[in-house]
Amino acid sequence: MNDIIKEIQELKKQKKATILAHYYQEGEIQEIADFNGDSLALARAATKVETPIIVFCGVHFMAETAKILNPSKKVLLPDLQAGCSLADSCPADKLARYQEMLRINDRKFQTVTYINSTAAVKSLSDWVVTSGNAENIVKKVPAEMEILFVPDRHLGQYLEEVTGRKMILWDGACMVHEIFSLGDLLAMKKKLPSSMVLAHPECPANIRAYSEFVGGTEAMLNKIATFKTPTDFIVATEPNMMWQMENRFPQHRYHPVPGITCACNKCPHMGRNTLENLRDCLINETPEIVWDPCFDRAKEVLTRSLLN
Ligand code: 13P
Repeated sequence: MNDIIKEIQELKKQKKATILAHYYQEGEIQEIADFNGDSLALARAATKVETPIIVFCGVHFMAETAKILNPSKKVLLPDLQAGCSLADSCPADKLARYQEMLRINDRKFQTVTYINSTAAVKSLSDWVVTSGNAENIVKKVPAEMEILFVPDRHLGQYLEEVTGRKMILWDGACMVHEIFSLGDLLAMKKKLPSSMVLAHPECPANIRAYSEFVGGTEAMLNKIATFKTPTDFIVATEPNMMWQMENRFPQHRYHPVPGITCACNKCPHMGRNTLENLRDCLINETPEIVWDPCFDRAKEVLTRSLLN
């Protein structure tokens, strides 16, 4: 076994740590993790961790969510700079001003916030959704209320389509999902006529329109599980997802959709976590997510939205 993997496994035992990893992490990190999942499953898994330390291999908002939902644990993130373009697109002060403007104009609304956001933004929200529960939560918003959906306009637009609810959409987008090349996707479909395109709902409408299935990362795995005969899947999401697909369903073939500007479309934030900084964070027990006063209100919203 590789030395660093052995070292991480020993440190994990010695420090009594649990490693949670998102499906967008490199395969070598997913392989060493105690639990891999989508945003919803990871948030729920974080509440069940009994060890004193959680190392979150994902991006900042995910580790923050784990801390909020299991505050007595020390939650570590190998690189605090592992951010999210969606979270960056919606600063809390800007959202608060926008909500104030709507209230002044007598608009009755609830704020439905994608989990890819800061805790401060969650604390200004009525609901927090993930790709896994968004449809159900949107259906809970009383019909007489408008919905302000932040920060992902593509996911918001997708939810408008599937729920029939009109929304006020914040102008944010995921830097990975926004740049898939439709031209390349169509060329791939032509080359593989019996293939099936799987797209994350963070993709723009032009990509979703040519996809046979739209769903979050867990939903994609569940969909693939229904295919018994070897199939070609064209995958429009972060390419590390294909490690998990190949690992679970090796009988199929997976083809990533390239981006317009970059052939690989990897998330640079997710890529900040490496085996080296994972090991170092176990040794030093830092960087740590520290409690912020806004976490109290964010906890209420997260608990109501994800754990009930
Ligand atoms: P999932 O919850 O579908 O895994 O999505 C996570 C994410 O951040 C997509 O960009």
